[in-house]
Amino acid sequence: MLLEIADLLNTDELRRVRALLGEGEWVDGRETAGVQAARVKYNEQLAPRCAAARALQEIVLAALGRHAGFFSAVLPKRVLPPFFNRYRGDGSHYGNHVDQAVRFAPDGTRVRCDVSCTVFLSDPAEYDGGELVVETDTGTRRLKLPAGAAVVYPSGSVHRVEPVTRGARLASFFWIESMVRSPEQRRLLHDLDRTLIALRERDPASPESVALTGTYHNLLRMWADT
Ligand code: NI
Repeated sequence: MLLEIADLLNTDELRRVRALLGEGEWVDGRETAGVQAARVKYNEQLAPRCAAARALQEIVLAALGRHAGFFSAVLPKRVLPPFFNRYRGDGSHYGNHVDQAVRFAPDGTRVRCDVSCTVFLSDPAEYDGGELVVETDTGTRRLKLPAGAAVVYPSGSVHRVEPVTRGARLASFFWIESMVRSPEQRRLLHDLDRTLIALRERDPASPESVALTGTYHNLLRMWADT
């Protein structure tokens, strides 16, 4: 399931993010790609351990932490530290690839990448091209979201970033291990959760709300790996 998250970052966070991105040290994006992906990846990336990158990671992780929609859709178990990339208007692009299944966290432990997230940090008017194209089970999606918006999608999806032909496209990207490994089960839980929220707004104490909330938690109990 692909889900767009509007306004993940607020205006103040976006301003701080853009300032920090200007102070960071940029390196070749192929440093974090696997063998197949490195052959098709042409962009720049913020050096992951520079001071600016650490401050940026904190901002993005804090925004994720307060976003109920992100939690409901992704059911995060572990979130890897966000990376930051830049595609300049010289045709920088990232061809079709599937994200690596397993990556190492900074503490050396392995993390299974279930969900990929991209946070758009440039306004669409700042650049031409640069759409994130994701092949989903319901067709191809082309995404060019407002600055501060994010998209999450299963890490097993084939995806690419189209060439940027003007300006610069800044984004954050990272991976999440979900408590629920299966994309289909995550989707069912997310659908049920959204329906429950609507039902509770209408009648918070109804026996149906209580019963369905129980069903949600019992499904989560059955499927979650904590
Ligand atoms: Ni990717």
